Amino acid sequence: MQATLERWSTRRAFILAVTGAAVGLGNIWRFPYITGENGGAAFLVLYVAFVLLLGLPVMMAEILIGRAGRRSPMASLGHLAAQAGASRHWRLLGVFGAVTVFCILSFYSVVSGWSIEFLVAAINGDFVGADPAEIGAGFDAFLADPARMTFNHTLFLLLTMTVVAAGVAKGLEKLNNLLMPLLYLLLVLLAGFAATTSGFGPALAWLFQPELSAITPLVVLHAMGHAFFTLAVGACALMAYGAYMPERQSLPRAAGAVALLDVTVALLAGIAIFSVVFTQGLDPAEGPGLMFVTLPIAFAELPWGALWLSLFFLLLLLATWTSSINLAEPMVATLQGLGLGRGRAAALTGVAVWLVGLLSVLSFSILADWHPVADKTFFDLVTSVPTEVFLPLGGLVIAVFAAWVMASDTVRKALGVGPTGFRLWQGVVRWVSIPLTLVVLVAGLI
Ligand code: PHE
Ligand code: NA
Repeated sequence: MQATLERWSTRRAFILAVTGAAVGLGNIWRFPYITGENGGAAFLVLYVAFVLLLGLPVMMAEILIGRAGRRSPMASLGHLAAQAGASRHWRLLGVFGAVTVFCILSFYSVVSGWSIEFLVAAINGDFVGADPAEIGAGFDAFLADPARMTFNHTLFLLLTMTVVAAGVAKGLEKLNNLLMPLLYLLLVLLAGFAATTSGFGPALAWLFQPELSAITPLVVLHAMGHAFFTLAVGACALMAYGAYMPERQSLPRAAGAVALLDVTVALLAGIAIFSVVFTQGLDPAEGPGLMFVTLPIAFAELPWGALWLSLFFLLLLLATWTSSINLAEPMVATLQGLGLGRGRAAALTGVAVWLVGLLSVLSFSILADWHPVADKTFFDLVTSVPTEVFLPLGGLVIAVFAAWVMASDTVRKALGVGPTGFRLWQGVVRWVSIPLTLVVLVAGLI
């Protein structure tokens, strides 16, 4: 009995950790605005296809490497490479992953800071009776105020690094999982309310009736990057969790459950947000501010709107908090591997991320005219390049390592499947995921 309970709790702990990493800004903030910028349904079809053909199989590859190595990502990669008679340099994949999450966390913290600002405003009742134009203007004024933006960015990063330094992520994951159903319920409620508005029909058409002419190599690249981002795959961040995965848990089932949850949360958010867009005659391609201007409008029309809106931002913050902890972990682990204590490693990571995050903060004011590439601001670049290039590249190398370099027997055991399941997974990764990632990357970058 004792043993059963123990196992149950660790199995659950694994799912909690991976869900915590997966569900975050990617679903509720990034998915709607990136879908809006890329033409709606055609993008959605591609994104779901990439989740199934790339995201899921590569997620399994990433986790099984950690599970087979039972060490930190770099150490697991080195150990397994040596075991298979390959070069120890595979370890460098872990360093590349740490660079990727560093870039991602630098803007993730800034945007999570926006949620703090909106949480406080919602609690104050600032949105009560405000019309869409006022809400939009308020958001623009906030973006143009580097001091307020910096304050929120700092606060969020402090919250994250404190949990990382104290090593209490597991407690937060439990709390998160307790409250996640509430976030889900709130989104269902909001989507249900959206169904009573005039924009609902156009929103569904926009989301689910693809126009093939909207598909360009760049749209395909955006969809692929988003699939990796939303599932937290490609940066060796999930690899670390694989190391703690219980012996007898089914990896395909756990990964499948997380992916399903992740996609549904995004769809619900999308339905709610685009219904507002079409009811109010807003622009679907409004950009990164989309969620922040539409949801206050939607909630304002519900009874006790201010209360629901506050609750929503609170739950969103909790979800982004666990994601950002997962983003910080690989860097802290890498620094610890170099001999630093956990507290120092967390502090150093925090300061470095904070500094780079300032460039994102200032992209909306002082540095708005600084365009390092083409007409893109620093924020535009840091929210796209690491997600759309680094994550797929990392995922590609992870997939090659698991499907071509590691010994088949080790892989099959770590996947926890029979011979047929193994051949299916290996076939998909070798002949679908790897070539597809390569083709999309090359086509998109040209
Ligand atoms: N999956 C997270 C989200 O959707 C972001 C993330 C990316 C987390 C990569 C960890 C690693 O918000
Ligand atoms: Na996600």
